[in-house]
Amino acid sequence: MYKIAVIPGDGIGPEVINEGLKVLKRVSEIVGFSYEIKEYPFGSEHYLKTGELMPANILDEFKQMNAIYLGAIGDPRCEVGLVERGIIGAIRWGELDLYINLRPIKLYAEHLCPLKDKKPEDIDIIAVRENTEDLYTGIGGFLHKGTENEVAIQEMVYTRMGVERIVRYAFECARKRNKKKRVTLVDKANAIRAMDIWTRVFKQVGEEYPDIEKDHAYIDAACMWMIKNPEWFDVIVVNNVFGDIITDLGAVIQGGMGIAASGNINPGQVSMFEPIHGSAPKHAGKGVACPLAAIETVKMMLEFLGEPKAAQMIENAVAGLLRSKKITSISTSSGLKTSEIGDMVVETLTS
Ligand code: IPM
Ligand code: MG
Repeated sequence: MYKIAVIPGDGIGPEVINEGLKVLKRVSEIVGFSYEIKEYPFGSEHYLKTGELMPANILDEFKQMNAIYLGAIGDPRCEVGLVERGIIGAIRWGELDLYINLRPIKLYAEHLCPLKDKKPEDIDIIAVRENTEDLYTGIGGFLHKGTENEVAIQEMVYTRMGVERIVRYAFECARKRNKKKRVTLVDKANAIRAMDIWTRVFKQVGEEYPDIEKDHAYIDAACMWMIKNPEWFDVIVVNNVFGDIITDLGAVIQGGMGIAASGNINPGQVSMFEPIHGSAPKHAGKGVACPLAAIETVKMMLEFLGEPKAAQMIENAVAGLLRSKKITSISTSSGLKTSEIGDMVVETLTS
């Protein structure tokens, strides 16, 4: 019995999570596993009403579960980043220590790709984004805030342990994927001196993986190559902030934010799964958001939980609907309702 915490969150979050849960229910019936869900109201609405982001002991409660399934967090009525940091950040960076942000970039159907002449076989990358350090640690602050002499500082923090564990995970990932067996380290070590730690750790840890090719690109060039030659990449290992940026770029070359999923993982411990897209307030409540990212997120969660058959079934259904052009677009103007897309996936699973 898997215990899953569900946080639908803000904006389009609840609508897309609803479809993900429909798919989860159906695959569990087909494959034959059981799970139990506990839903939490956390998000901007809850914060505005109660002044609470999440209760102090909530991470202890999550630790008793197997996975967390999250929709989206963010609302223009709240101070920029406050609710995101208080919920997504607290779950990722806090004591759950979800140090791997796994973001697959896989093109299912040619017509979804904005790049000329790129086919599904050209775009199958996995970004392994470090998820707890870097500019996200909150170390820094303001001096003379609000005055003409204001100073704002935010520190880029890398620890030996933090860099080493993510680099090692990336090499393991390349080994398991058994594709090109290449790991590309993406950084900006030519300009940011602290990033030299990535260069050294990558080289050292890489010696333990003679079967894996070691590759390197600076983040600016990597963005260029991802557009020009996405077929070069297999596994990308990247620091938190550049990983944030390059995975939006990755999402768009696989078809758009409507399909990109992610896992925030600490192997063997409770981990959190969420679509890469945000809460999209302007589309909320209209039933036009594409739920495929949330559905693909369920797929990633099932892979993590040890249900590879169910995960594959979801991928086959989603990829099949896109390839056959039963779903021609994953944008909000696709003409298909959020729930229609969810139903199509559910029906394809059964067929
Ligand atoms: C993401 C988001 C988050 C991040 C925000 C909401 C804090 O952009 O998951 O990519 O920067 O990691
Ligand atoms: Mg982002």
